[in-house]
Parts: sequence; C-alpha cells; structure tokens
Amino acid sequence: MCGIVGYIGYEQAAPFLLHGLEKLEYRGYDSAGICLNDGSELIVKKAKGKLEELEKLTDYGKNIHGTVGIGHTRWATHGEPSDVNAHPHLSDSCRFAVVHNGIIENYLQLKEYLTAKGVTFRSKTDTEVIAQLIEYYYQGDLIDTVIKVLSKLDGSYALGVISKENPDEIIAVRKESPLIIGIGENENYIASDVPAILSKTRRIYRLENNEIAILRRDSIRIINTDKDEVRKEEETIQWDIDAAEKGGYEHFMFKEIMEQPKALHDTVNPRIKDGRIVLDEIKLTKEQLRQYRKINILACGSAYHVGVVAKYVFEKMLRIPVEADLASEFRYRDPIVDDKTLTIVISQSGETADTKEAMKEAQRRGSHVISIVNVVGSAIATESDEVIYTWAGPEIAVATTKAYSTQLAVVYLLAIYFAEMLGTITDAEYQYYLKELEALPDKIQEILDHEENIQYLASQLFHSRDVFFIGRNIDYALSLEGSLKLKEISYIHSEAYAAGELKHGTISLIEEGTLVIALATHEPLIAKTISNIEEVQTRGAYVLCLACENHQEVGSVAQSTIFIPQTCDMMLPSLAVIPLQLFAYYVASLKGCDIDKPRNLAKSVTVE
Ligand code: G6P
Repeated sequence: MCGIVGYIGYEQAAPFLLHGLEKLEYRGYDSAGICLNDGSELIVKKAKGKLEELEKLTDYGKNIHGTVGIGHTRWATHGEPSDVNAHPHLSDSCRFAVVHNGIIENYLQLKEYLTAKGVTFRSKTDTEVIAQLIEYYYQGDLIDTVIKVLSKLDGSYALGVISKENPDEIIAVRKESPLIIGIGENENYIASDVPAILSKTRRIYRLENNEIAILRRDSIRIINTDKDEVRKEEETIQWDIDAAEKGGYEHFMFKEIMEQPKALHDTVNPRIKDGRIVLDEIKLTKEQLRQYRKINILACGSAYHVGVVAKYVFEKMLRIPVEADLASEFRYRDPIVDDKTLTIVISQSGETADTKEAMKEAQRRGSHVISIVNVVGSAIATESDEVIYTWAGPEIAVATTKAYSTQLAVVYLLAIYFAEMLGTITDAEYQYYLKELEALPDKIQEILDHEENIQYLASQLFHSRDVFFIGRNIDYALSLEGSLKLKEISYIHSEAYAAGELKHGTISLIEEGTLVIALATHEPLIAKTISNIEEVQTRGAYVLCLACENHQEVGSVAQSTIFIPQTCDMMLPSLAVIPLQLFAYYVASLKGCDIDKPRNLAKSVTVE
C-alpha cells in the first residue's frame, strides 16, 4: 500500500524514480509524485491519477533535475486523491521532503500541536506532520532530528527523507511497513519492493523495524534509534528480471493465470522426494502435532478464501476442528487461542498489516505459527515460527491468481503431510493424494489450453448486472474466490452463497436473467446443488455451471456448463478456480476495465 522509491548517485534521478514508481504502481495508483534536490532547492512535482500523469508533467523526468530524489505512488488513506495530498510532502519552508507508506495514528494531535506553534499545513494527510515535525525540531543534525521525530510518531511507517540542508543524503526508516535498500556502484537506492530497483541492482538490505539507513552516493550506514551501528546481511535477489515484466501479455493478470502450472510445479515438486513429502521447513514432531486441539487459520482477502478451503480440507483429513478467521476480525475479538492451537497464517505479500498483527496476537497467546508466504524475507515470513514459501514468483496484478493457487497447493501438501503423521489416512490414500497433487499442473494446463470457451461465455454474459455464485462444501469455499475475482476487476456486483443458504433471503434477488454461477464439483453433494440450480432457474436465473467431466449429467441442467478434469475432491478448487479467473478476466476486459489496477484497490495492504 503506497510505493516508495529513492535514488542517490551521479545520474539524473527523475527517470529512474519514474521507472521505479511504475514497478510499484501495484501498491497504489491514485496519485504520484517525486522530489529532487537540484543543488540549491527541493523541487516537487505531483499529479493526481495514474503515474502517466506525472510522467507527462515531468516530460518523462526530463524537466526536473537533480541526482538525489525520492518518489511515491499513493493509495489514499488520509485526504482524497489530489495533487496536494500526493507525496512527497514538504515542510513549511520547503527545506525537508518526506515520502511515507503507513499510517501515523496520532497525526491529529501532532497537527494541532504544530498548528498552535504557527505551522501552516497544506494537505489533509497524516504524512505532512512528519515533514513539519522535522523542520520544527531541526537544529543542524538531520539524523538526530529524524530520531526525535520518530519518538513522537505512533503507527506504521516506511519513510524516505531528503533535505535541502543535506544535499548528499537520503534517510530511510522502517517501522511495520516494508522498505529495502538497494546497493549500487557509486549510487544507492531505496524502495518498497524489489522490482523497483531490479534494473539497477540485485544486492539489497532489508530494513527491520526501527532501523534507519543513511544513504550517500558511496556508502550506506544503518543504525538503530539509539544510533548504534547495525550490521546487516546483504541479500542477492535471485529471480529473473523478466518475472516482473509482462512478457508480451496484455495484462499481468493474464500472464499470471497462464503461469499457474509452473508455479504449482515449482511449489510442489521440490517437496516430493522418492514418493514422500519432505517439508524441511516444518520442525513439528508427531507428538507436538498430536497435542493440538484446534487449527486456526488467519488471512485477508483471497488468502482468507484459501483458508476457507483449508478448513474443509484439514477437518476432513485431520479430524481436528478448524477455524478460518479474517485477520482484521480475529485481532480485536479476544480469541480463544492458546498453546493447544496451531495457527496457520496465509499471505502472498507477507506484509498485510492485519494478518501480521493477528499472527502476533496468536503468538502472544502461546500459539505456534506456520506461515504460508510468497515474498521471501517479508515480515510475516520472518516473524512466524515456521514458514513454507509458495514459489509463485513475483505477483504483480492486484487480483491474485497464481498466489492463490500455490497457497492451495501448500494447504494440500500440509494436509497430506499432517494426515500421515497423525495416522488419519492409509498409505494407499497417501500415495493417491500425492499422485493427484503432482498431476494438478498438467490438468490446469489442459483447462488453460481451452480458454477460448470461457472467453466465449464471457462475451455472452459480460452485461450482467448482478451475479450470484453458489456451491456447497468445498465448492462454497471456492465460490467466495470466484465472486471476489469477478467483482474486484469487472465492478459487477457479485455475491457468494452456500447453495443451501440462498433460499433464506437472497433468492428474492433472483429475477429474469440474473446470472447464477453454480459450482457443482463436490461429488457427494452434486444432487443437492442441482436442486438449488433448479430453484433459481424456476425463478428466471440464467445458470452457468461448473462441473467435473465425469458428471456430464450436470450439463443437461444448466443453460451453460464448463467441464473441468477430475481429481480428488479436496483438490478440485485448484482446477475449478481457473475458469473462474478466466471468466472474471474476460468479463473485465470486455467491459474495458483497468484489469491490473482496479479502482480503489492496492495489492499490498500495509494499513489496517
Ligand atoms: C489484497 C489483495 C488480495 C490479497 C489480500 C491479502 O486485498 O488485492 O489479492 O488476497 O490483499 O494479501 P496478502 O498479501 O496477505 O495475501
């Protein structure tokens, strides 16, 4: 949520800053700005709207000069998207500029305090108080001043600070919001995420909470708030620069949908050796596992939807009660969690504020936490007790696809692994499940190879105003994701319902032509779901059904049916989600929506 980039070197900074912001636009895209020290003063250019507005304003960085600068792409929290609320924010006399990712919770008190001292504020943002406080406390030493200002701030922040007084320095700070330092030759960088700097360097430091980096052209110093030097491990980014590029596809989302067979293969196959699952990451013993009375799953958004699938899977496979909780609700509801609860946290970014705090709440209550995370070295990955990485590669599109799929794959790996440890499955079942898991990438590929069928259905149905997704059991869990995918990128109102629940009120919304997408893959309940399909059809609904190819009879019930290959029941969501992703994609495309950057959204939600 919000992207920060910074450059200090000998080249003109603006083109690089704009390039970096483009790579970070998935974090927010309602306005953007850059600030450069041109040798005598701080020059700021900001523009409401997508980055291209700022690019035009600065003639692609050509009309703003300086070799030290910071930039920001915003997802508004305090103050509407506008030129004035866009970052960077300057102090009253324009001597200090700040970019910020996070929320300053006590900004109103600080603003009142400074206003009473005669400081004039220009914006409605929480961030501006930081720039104003720096100026207010500045007595000649910027580091001391920043440290003093940090002691006044409550909340979360990643900060980039430059000043007219110190033209050869960028100061960067991290607390709860991600920030990396890029290490170059005679130039150095800051960024919220790796893609922003990958064209320049693969060498980075990841800042930890309350660390302050002082970047000069030829040096990087990292200190803590007591001004002690901090020794950091340098990390080399391994992934290919192409992984974060569109590679000829029109949208990142489509590219990422197409990458799913590989992502699943990369996540699953290295963890299967000689016909057995090997999870070196998990240190839990059989005895420890046996003592758990409950599994608690914490996540947000689509990752939560994986958690709902996992509830069905774990309860069936392990016979342990499972609660899947929205992290934002869990953290404030005095949850019943203790050392007899195993917590599983799911997050693509590893930085989602609510998920991270919910995890800490579970840990405070004595629960052991296993995280399922995509971004290596992220906060949730490092702060959980054990981490299993999904090897999906960088996911850029705001609407997740390959991260969701690889998270599901890890859920299956864990379910089979734990079931064997607990003795709740036979060896024959173990082998069968493994075989099915390894076969998923090919079966997904088979669906992708026939994606034109789904494109055709989208062309027939993209005018729908309301859509209802229904399903039972694991199909219901998947319907949550199908519905979210459609609404978030196409802006069509859509809801997911347990098929049996629809008649308790919501069925009154079904009228002539309402689109109902019925998921009927869960074998034991197909007949029940067919009854629910008939109920909505009787009331005028147009039903698009999703079923397994060995249940052709479903095709005669619905107006249109998409068939998917067969697999074991618990893994069907991995196959069924693919047509739902493609359907959402094509509907959004036909409606002319901005697929990779849907309105009001951001990918990495680092505020609560
Ligand atoms: C945002 C993204 C979703 C994601 C959710 C949780 O809303 O758009 O795709 O599922 O955050 O993010 P996380 O990084 O924790 O998986």
